Amino acid sequence: NRSDFVRIVEVGPRDGLQNEKKSIPLATKIELVERLALTGLKTIEAGSFVSPKWVPQMANSSEILEHIFKHPPKAPHPITYQFLLPNVKGLDNFTSVWESHASSKQDTYPTPPPSPGADEGPVLNTSEIGISSLDIELSIFTAATETFTQKNTNCSITESLKRFEPIMARAKDLDLNVRAYISVALGCPYEGPNVDPHKVANLAVSLLEMGADEISVADTTGMGTAPKTAELLKTLTAAGIENNDLALHFHDTYGQALVNSVVALEHGIRTFDAAVGGLGGCPFSPGATGNVASEDLVHCFHSLGAKTGVDIEKLSEVGEWISRELGRPNESRAGKATLAR
Ligand code: HMG
Ligand code: MG
Repeated sequence: NRSDFVRIVEVGPRDGLQNEKKSIPLATKIELVERLALTGLKTIEAGSFVSPKWVPQMANSSEILEHIFKHPPKAPHPITYQFLLPNVKGLDNFTSVWESHASSKQDTYPTPPPSPGADEGPVLNTSEIGISSLDIELSIFTAATETFTQKNTNCSITESLKRFEPIMARAKDLDLNVRAYISVALGCPYEGPNVDPHKVANLAVSLLEMGADEISVADTTGMGTAPKTAELLKTLTAAGIENNDLALHFHDTYGQALVNSVVALEHGIRTFDAAVGGLGGCPFSPGATGNVASEDLVHCFHSLGAKTGVDIEKLSEVGEWISRELGRPNESRAGKATLAR
């Protein structure tokens, strides 16, 4: 049903910033999260607890988490903040902040407003769907090829799954949802464009069996095309994976992200990752550029009758602002066009 609600997972503060060479001030990162929280977005990936030797830009993510707890952005609806981590060390660093604030995470927001307005998604009744007003989730990540997994996390695919076991167990103890990324699902910078969709499906099944709450299938390199996306989704469905358990994460390196997103929408996917202003890239995927711009995705989905709850004008302003802050061109065409209206 095209009038369905589509959830946009805004990964700009993490995927969008991690590849920036110049150190970005903590205040700018926090301001980005706060501005995004006022656009109607309901899920924001706000940072990552990875090794600062590998990704220096993400080194102060614990301070972002701390800030979210102390001064939660004043959104008129609940927001889920996600944090990426690769191993138990990352989880330890995360939990040392999380545990000291977990008791204060309830009821930080006022009750959601009664009517969402014409262009908005359904009002979230937090008591019905069982999330607290300020929710935190973890993201873990592996990949569909051995070479990419080695380059990104210095281990094999099998070892990456082993690393997740204690993370999953502790996340369940802490009552935290876990999303799991599968990188290079539609092409690998080291092993080429033809990644076996069955490999992606097998990994997704393993991750769900381990307890992942959602799989984000990632086209890290932007090598995905409409037919490849359709084939991958058919393979995932044939493996028994439900669309509700999936998110799609497109990078726009070849300009195919929107086309691929529409293919995925038609297949029944209702969760999509995107970065405001088209920011982003993975430091371990040479030549890969930003995520699909959130503004472009929102504009496209609204044109198809889907609801995202996102205010495109407010979002476009954030895209323009952060691009200026980073001294890079705004990569969102819909964002620029919206502001020029
Ligand atoms: P390693 O070097 O094998 O790790 O890296 P190690 O266990 O040998 O530890 C080496 C040092 O790092 C030690 O410090 C550890 O304490 C420290 P030392 O004793 O030398 O002082 N360390 C850490 N410090 C802070 N936080 C941690 C942590 N772990 C170890 N979590 C490791 C292995 C996994 C740590 C490393 O490869 C890593 O951090 N990789 C992350 C790479 C990354 O962030 N990539 C980008 C995110 S994924 C992505 O963008 C794709 C995605 O968007 C989807 C898509 O588009 O494909 C999600
Ligand atoms: Mg990515």
